[in-house]
Amino acid sequence: MYSEKVMDHFMNPRNVGEIEDADGVGEVGNAKCGDIMKIFLKIRDNRIVDVKFKTFGCGAAIASSSMATELIKGKTIDEALELTNKAVAEALDGLPPIKMHCSVLAEQAIKAAIEDYRRRQQEKQVNS
Ligand code: FES
Ligand code: FES
Repeated sequence: MYSEKVMDHFMNPRNVGEIEDADGVGEVGNAKCGDIMKIFLKIRDNRIVDVKFKTFGCGAAIASSSMATELIKGKTIDEALELTNKAVAEALDGLPPIKMHCSVLAEQAIKAAIEDYRRRQQEKQVNS
């Protein structure tokens, strides 16, 4: 049912954890099932220099978060915003159709973290 890459990222997820002094944090959840994904970003000169995640969800959600963090690490914010859940699933050599919605969490969590970063930047400008 799952590709080798999905199994690999599920068994050995990359970038698990938290960044204490993160520049942006995004949390999304699916109210129906209670699954939650949280993404932490460290950003320098508009580039994602570090990223960590915490996911409370199924194996597909964990593999998607792991792959998504790998795909955006080192990218600019604009490049990261273009990441779609389809691209994450493709990078994993596919997800079963009933598991595609789990990869949407990763895309949404990244977008939420970038929004949070931008909000903080604006606040800094207002306060300085
Ligand atoms: Fe909750 Fe898939 S069942 S996101
Ligand atoms: Fe809930 Fe995948 S995150 S089923």
